[in-house]
Amino acid sequence: MNQDAMKKQAAEAALNYVEGGVIGVGTGSTVNHFIDALATVKSRIEGAVSSSEASSVRLAAHGIPVFDLNAVGALSLYVDGADETNAQFQLIKGGGGALTREKIVAAASQKFVCIGDETKLVKVLGAFPLPVEVIPMARSYVARELVKLGGTPIWREGFVTDNGNVILDVRHLEITDPIQMEQQINNLAGVVTVGIFALRPADVLILGTPDGAKTVD
Ligand code: A5P
Repeated sequence: MNQDAMKKQAAEAALNYVEGGVIGVGTGSTVNHFIDALATVKSRIEGAVSSSEASSVRLAAHGIPVFDLNAVGALSLYVDGADETNAQFQLIKGGGGALTREKIVAAASQKFVCIGDETKLVKVLGAFPLPVEVIPMARSYVARELVKLGGTPIWREGFVTDNGNVILDVRHLEITDPIQMEQQINNLAGVVTVGIFALRPADVLILGTPDGAKTVD
């Protein structure tokens, strides 16, 4: 079974958590499978709050109403993918560049169900380059500070986030204390969001495997 088929399995298994109301929907290829599956049960929900323009377009194409988070308040459920997860469900996210809105929707949700294929599970976060969303004028300053932390930041040139900012992808960080590193990088002037989700980790992890989707909670 290929990686995409495993992502699809996990995405479909996440439908078990969809009970009603307005739900949070993330971004990425795994979430695209989730949105397509959600369309088959859309009468169960009132609609969705989306973490990206791309997901909003896909939801709307399926006839699923998309709401502004300010119009709906707290969400009972958020379903999103990840670039890496450890056994504590602390994540690296932002490979698709939507990390800031993803962190906002995750924070506003009671339950965060993370979906992915089994290759996303790692012992220590950091092999995947860590995305950091930065205000454009702070790009060089933040890059220098990230070098002091032991990282090798690469500007994702030509990419602009939905919020009008830039992304630095940071290689060579071994993230042994994700909460501490999330706080440290978030505190740098000019950083909008770091792609470590440890202060608010996922609550449930669903991983697609060759033997079927496995849920850990
Ligand atoms: C988007 O910014 C990311 O956080 C995605 O959730 C993450 O990159 C997972 O993407 P895939 O589902 O495409 O692997």
